Amino acid sequence: MTPSPITRRPNSEGIAVSHSEFPAVPDSSWAAATQPHQPILDAIRDHGWSEQDIFLPEDLTIALALECAALAAAGKLTLAGVSRGAAQSVQPGIRGDQIHWLEAGQSLACDRYLGIMESLRVALNRGLFLGLDEYESHFAFYAPGASYLKHVDRFRDDDSRTVSVVVYLNPGWLPEHGGALRLHPQGRHTEDIAPLGSRLVLFLSADMLHEVLPATRDRLSLAGWFRRRPVL
Ligand code: OGA
Ligand code: MN
Repeated sequence: MTPSPITRRPNSEGIAVSHSEFPAVPDSSWAAATQPHQPILDAIRDHGWSEQDIFLPEDLTIALALECAALAAAGKLTLAGVSRGAAQSVQPGIRGDQIHWLEAGQSLACDRYLGIMESLRVALNRGLFLGLDEYESHFAFYAPGASYLKHVDRFRDDDSRTVSVVVYLNPGWLPEHGGALRLHPQGRHTEDIAPLGSRLVLFLSADMLHEVLPATRDRLSLAGWFRRRPVL
């Protein structure tokens, strides 16, 4: 993948915080940050991935879907590449989505979305001590028939991607539309998750083999990664 614009968020819980600074008994601000996200934290801790329905408010899902569709109509999406750096290439047979990286300030809807992901980053750090300090995200548009073959999201030469996030922007998605995210958790059965609007899926980037199956209609999403700053 080409070096991508990284949305840097204000960081107070990042890599420099030692575990001893976390209170043994949660205080009220601690609970406020983690409680709404507790089911996500529990699922990640238990089996490395989490699915959460109605994660985004419906009006935000619609605003983001319209923005993604407008970017597509304006020709502002680019075919995504596989791999990164000098090895990067566009191979639609392997990866068929078209993308647009998010920048803070690009729209009200994107800023609302980035604010929600910031609170999730704080909760993941407080609940699971993940030391996440950055979030990068892009719109992804899969035309009918496009897919993304089995892969893991962490690059071989860059271990900063720690938690993968996908939020779907497709109200009224039906099973017969296809387009499932198929997870291949180690030592467990596969899981197919339909890309239904407002649904969130999170998984550990280094471990989870996954793929995107082809759909019969346009499939819109926001894919993103919580990253750790690489240790120098
Ligand atoms: C990805 C990816 C899953 C999905 O963008 O790397 O695996 O369901 N996306 O869109
Ligand atoms: Mn992926």
